[in-house]
Amino acid sequence: MQLNPLSGKNLTPRLGLLLAAVVAAATLAHAEPTNTIPTLQIKADQVTAKVSPMLYGLMTEEINYSYEGGLYGELVRNRTFKANTTNAVFWNVVGNGIIALDTNQPLNSALNVSLKLDASKASKNSPVGIANGGYWGIPVRPETTYHASFYARGNGFTGPLTVAITSTNGETGLASATVPKITKKWQKYEVTLTTGGIAPSQDNRLVISTVKRGTVWFSQVSLFPPTFNNRANGNRPDLMQLLADMHPAFLRFPGGNYLEGNEIWTRFNWKNTIGDISGRPGHLNDGWGYWSTDGLGLLEFLGWCEDLKMQPVLAVYAGYSMRQRHVAPGDDLKPYVQDALDEIEYVNGDVNTPWGAQRARDGHPAPFALNYVEIGNEDWFDKSGSYDERFTQFFDAIKAKHPQLQVIATTKVKSRVPDLLDEHYYRSPEEMQLHALDYDTYSRTNHTKIFCGEWATRVGSPTPNMAAALGDAAWMTGLERNSDIVLMASYAPLFVNVNHGAMQWRPDLIGYNAINSYGSPAYYAQQMFSTHHGDTVLATDSQDIPTVSRQPPARRVNGVDQPLPPEQHVPKLFFDATRDSQTGTIFLKVVNSLGTPQPVKIQISGASAVEAEGAAVVLKADRPDDTNSIQEPARIVPVTEKVDGLGTDFTREFPPYSITILELKTK
Ligand code: AHR
Repeated sequence: MQLNPLSGKNLTPRLGLLLAAVVAAATLAHAEPTNTIPTLQIKADQVTAKVSPMLYGLMTEEINYSYEGGLYGELVRNRTFKANTTNAVFWNVVGNGIIALDTNQPLNSALNVSLKLDASKASKNSPVGIANGGYWGIPVRPETTYHASFYARGNGFTGPLTVAITSTNGETGLASATVPKITKKWQKYEVTLTTGGIAPSQDNRLVISTVKRGTVWFSQVSLFPPTFNNRANGNRPDLMQLLADMHPAFLRFPGGNYLEGNEIWTRFNWKNTIGDISGRPGHLNDGWGYWSTDGLGLLEFLGWCEDLKMQPVLAVYAGYSMRQRHVAPGDDLKPYVQDALDEIEYVNGDVNTPWGAQRARDGHPAPFALNYVEIGNEDWFDKSGSYDERFTQFFDAIKAKHPQLQVIATTKVKSRVPDLLDEHYYRSPEEMQLHALDYDTYSRTNHTKIFCGEWATRVGSPTPNMAAALGDAAWMTGLERNSDIVLMASYAPLFVNVNHGAMQWRPDLIGYNAINSYGSPAYYAQQMFSTHHGDTVLATDSQDIPTVSRQPPARRVNGVDQPLPPEQHVPKLFFDATRDSQTGTIFLKVVNSLGTPQPVKIQISGASAVEAEGAAVVLKADRPDDTNSIQEPARIVPVTEKVDGLGTDFTREFPPYSITILELKTK
């Protein structure tokens, strides 16, 4: 096994970020020259662990317009007029009309505000209407059918209404349809809008207008493009395809901070996220500062899992919200525990259970397979120290009803033994490298299995650059090598809408605007790792791993400067080896974080022969801050090449700033 040259205390992400930034700014680092070529030994006949089939998964939440303005197909922004209580934000009036929010004409108790359009000055030559510019544009593609729907009622107005997608300046009509008649009562209207041979564009808006006079109210105005697998109320195909290409084993949802909310009442309250979307009140995503319609609700998360063949990792609200609000364990917590039991039943109960029956009414009679439930998120932030007791209450209730479920704790607990412990790490590239071997030191006999449920190397914006990918890859060699302990892992955050004002957190794995999307170098590093590995971990050893020395800054404690901590030696070359027990292929992953080519001697024992020809998948860059972007989405992508000269003892030069997966065919 590789030895950890350094030891380090795991930092909480929020504190860790701060310290990482300070450390990065204040430390001095220099390469330690060595004339010796590093040597890696792979012991093909010594299996140290099985590669967990659940190792590579996804973590998701509504952050950076990940769902609305991102994955969720809806193109209309503020479709329910609830994003702001005083103004119809993201809506504009067309022509000589007046628009205003109206709480006196609600569609129902969930959608308790509507948009009133005074079209009393409409005329044949001067239509009046409402327009929505979407999430930084409405993407339109050639020969494509869009599904528009809205609720409306008229007063002295019977229609018709024209529904159209036009360019933002209104000069070019791209598709349109007519709703001939509007009644006095609320009613849902639906039309399809089909484009012709136009060029793809995003500088567009949805317009609903009339040339007739009167007053009309609107509720839940929606526009959907074709979705992945044509799922109703579904997801954006290009983003789903990027995820599918990662072959993720699981999806941890509905969040992080998004699950907890700042306040108990702004938590992700799953019961408000199911059923017809017109019955979903939505909620303020105050953790990240914008409104959520909850169009992507519990059943949609499950559909997303179904589409990508991922196991759900269901995070249930556990009675803690981020402004240090907690529900006292005991009687006060009981309703929340019951909510979690109901939620589990909604996911996996058969149609004869109350919540299984509800799921069937919502359109999915078949239960979903559920194996993992996580109790809360980052409960180490709960300064009241109530988590142990809260966890116990959830754990006991869940295990009593569903003994087969794996129950995940978000921080250490003493009263029960969780099946998995969720650890989160957000670090600078150097911190990632320093800690890349941490899991090698975890006890094999006395340690709760780990779900590394959020991790990322934090450099690059809005998406990670090559330095981040190198930090991530170093970290992943540690995850994979230790996947007897680390059963599951997921990077976070997953998505960012790259438009100005959309991002709350950086970096994020996948970027997009209304019409285009791209994977960061870190995305490709993960895709390479998750799609190229065997089912067993092989024993390895190494000598002469290059390091960079680094002087961490002195700390001040209570205003007093502390002595300089000892110099650190940050490894710059990382590796692990797995083997496919069926084919015998060895996957050797080598990460060269140095800016110079790195020759490495590779010695393989325990295999009678290694074929001279094999393959290499390589991700590399000229500089650590090289990256992909919405303008240049494929600057850094993996390249697969045939390689020769392999054997049981060979030397290979790994390019500067590179991640390489060598496929070695053994006999
Ligand atoms: O990934 C961003 C945030 O980081 C998550 O919401 C939270 O769990 C963590 O603090």
